[in-house]
Amino acid sequence: MEQYVIRGGNPLVGEIEIGGAKNAALAILSAAIMTDETVYIENLPDVRDTNVLLDAIQKIGGIVERVNRHTVRINGSTIGDYSVDYEYIKKIRASYYLLGALLGKYKKAEVPLPGGCNIGSRPIDQHLKGFRALGAQVDIRHGAICASAEQGLFGRHIYLDMVSVGATINIMMAASMANGYTILENAAREPHVVDVANFLNSMGANIKGAGTDVIRIRGVEKLHAANYMIVPDMIEAGTYMIGAAATKGDVLIKNVIPKHLEAITAKLTEIGCEVQEFDDAIRVIASKRLHRTHVKTLPYPGYPTDMQPQISVLLALARGTSIVTESIFENRFKYVDELARMGGNVKVEGNTAIIDGVEGFTGARVSAPDLRAGAALVIAGLAADGITVVDDITYIQRGYEDFEVKLASLGAEIQKVFSEKEVQKFRYRVG
Ligand code: EPZ
Repeated sequence: MEQYVIRGGNPLVGEIEIGGAKNAALAILSAAIMTDETVYIENLPDVRDTNVLLDAIQKIGGIVERVNRHTVRINGSTIGDYSVDYEYIKKIRASYYLLGALLGKYKKAEVPLPGGCNIGSRPIDQHLKGFRALGAQVDIRHGAICASAEQGLFGRHIYLDMVSVGATINIMMAASMANGYTILENAAREPHVVDVANFLNSMGANIKGAGTDVIRIRGVEKLHAANYMIVPDMIEAGTYMIGAAATKGDVLIKNVIPKHLEAITAKLTEIGCEVQEFDDAIRVIASKRLHRTHVKTLPYPGYPTDMQPQISVLLALARGTSIVTESIFENRFKYVDELARMGGNVKVEGNTAIIDGVEGFTGARVSAPDLRAGAALVIAGLAADGITVVDDITYIQRGYEDFEVKLASLGAEIQKVFSEKEVQKFRYRVG
């Protein structure tokens, strides 16, 4: 089983490039099948989740041509199967975007119901509510969502019961090829929602208001070819910002949109970091011990839930007691027990973590409970005194391209290893 082994203590110094946003890419790759013409997508992150979704698209008959590591051509004209295999939804929940894409284009789709995951139960009732509002017949049969609309889909006025990124995107895709006009209220405003809307519009869709809480969609008959570049990944960027802060480093993070990072920048500045914004880059400098604050995760433009484990680890090293409230998912503090093995002093009560900052962590063997918590534990290892071994790093590889390579380029002593023997060799090498 692959592991990361880290010798902590080195400040992260230097510069790195951020890749395309995983959470935009998964929806855009799905939407790409909605035309029978060829779509050319650049700045695709080369991570496990996007590669699994490309396999799923090929499995239902779509043509996928890898131009290079970060560029792909997709043609959906040869799709003959509107049913996605369970193996894909089991690997990545976001395969459910194929539901909105297939339903929008073919007016029928079958996708296994995604189970819960490590951060919560994550129902998709709002997705199904939207599809039904558009006139689809949606049933759950033998563990799969079976959606069809023989009479076609019809634009409607839809209110989401809560802000949901996935439901906003899935309904937007289906509505983009419905008859008539759809208004989607209480829509998610994340940058990746905007990126999917921009992509669909580049294919000839008619979507207005993405990025606000009311999205207006006038359905079109057909979508056409497009060339598109995926937006930079704000969560990847935020993760490196916090890595710089936790190791008292100085990192220039390139190929970002600083506006997308404002909530993270505000918190880092509040606790004592220096953050410099440039047109398409951001620099984080932390030279002294940081101090406490309160954080509450909220839908964009609030502080992102996908950055909650990372800032909690940072605050676990800060002076004073911090409070972090997770208002989006019900089970996103599983890393706290792992952090305790490194000396972290965090108490979880319901959806709130009470964090008593400590002077420093000591290296230990820990296990990544999910994607973002795994990245946060790596950050803890980078800041710790001694050796940290992180197990279950496949979670991390789902959303971070070349994570250990980028960190090593900033001076981190980190290596991906495949055996205990390699861990010993690393220990010997770093002394
Ligand atoms: C997306 O998940 C992201 N995943 C998540 O990132 C991210 O944490 C989340 O948005 C919030 O920003 C992808 O984009 C692939 P939601 P999604 O629907 O769409 C509840 C990562 O680390 N809800 O906005 O599933 C839900 O349970 C991942 O990259 C319903 O109750 O999130 C949650 O409590 C983790 N019914 C809240 O809404 C629904 O039908 C927000 O979920 C849909 C959601």
